[in-house]
Amino acid sequence: MAKIGIVDSGCGGLSVYREILKVLPHSSYIYYADNANCPYGEKSPQFIIGRMNEICSLLISKGAAVIVVACNTATSAAIASLRESFPIPFVGMEPAVKPAALGTRSGVIGVLATEGTLKGSKYLHNKELYEDEVQILEHAGLGFVELVERGVLCGSEAESVVRSSLAPLLEAGADTIVLGCTHYPFLLPVMQKVAAELTPNPVRFIDPSPAVARRLVDVLRAEHIEPEDPRPGLELLCSGSREVALRLLGQFS
Ligand code: DGL
Repeated sequence: MAKIGIVDSGCGGLSVYREILKVLPHSSYIYYADNANCPYGEKSPQFIIGRMNEICSLLISKGAAVIVVACNTATSAAIASLRESFPIPFVGMEPAVKPAALGTRSGVIGVLATEGTLKGSKYLHNKELYEDEVQILEHAGLGFVELVERGVLCGSEAESVVRSSLAPLLEAGADTIVLGCTHYPFLLPVMQKVAAELTPNPVRFIDPSPAVARRLVDVLRAEHIEPEDPRPGLELLCSGSREVALRLLGQFS
């Protein structure tokens, strides 16, 4: 039976899996968290391409018929090379600059992502398309990935880390924040709390995962891959500890 492979540097891709499960609840999944090597944000593209090749080979050998690269940083560094190397379809992440640019009222949007994503040609090209119409500000979510990997999703430490990256964007007038890293949606409640403390104005956070889940459905249909499996479920593979991933999974599956 065809399986759906999902890969991330760690637990972040579980926020994408959560959205995929809503549209494909009867499928069989294999999720690989490369958490022994997390974060990817400051690693070289060569390193990320090497890890993605190894992990995707493994996922395909275990029956993956399609792979979701549920990591903006890995999509940016490696998806073109993966598509050349393997004969299966890949679905990647894309920072949601377009819906943010179309929806902003203040004319200023903020993009939170890793250094790797913000420097990547995929994001820079996306930004170019909208920067004449709206002001686009960027900030690396410093320390966000590490918080999520430790399972620290609320409390004063999380609030202080989030405040450091969010404050400059909100102070510059951003009313819409693009979550450009798949770890960040797990910090959404903290971001909303901190935003409410920083500004009286409403702030919209955009997570591209629901759009990625819909894209996966389209790809499965186009490639004639049957997503339903008589034995649906998730196989979780981690290069490091499984503890936090299992805890996050317990929240929604
Ligand atoms: N979750 C990842 C992303 O979407 C990777 C974060 C990291 O490992 O630095 O970019």
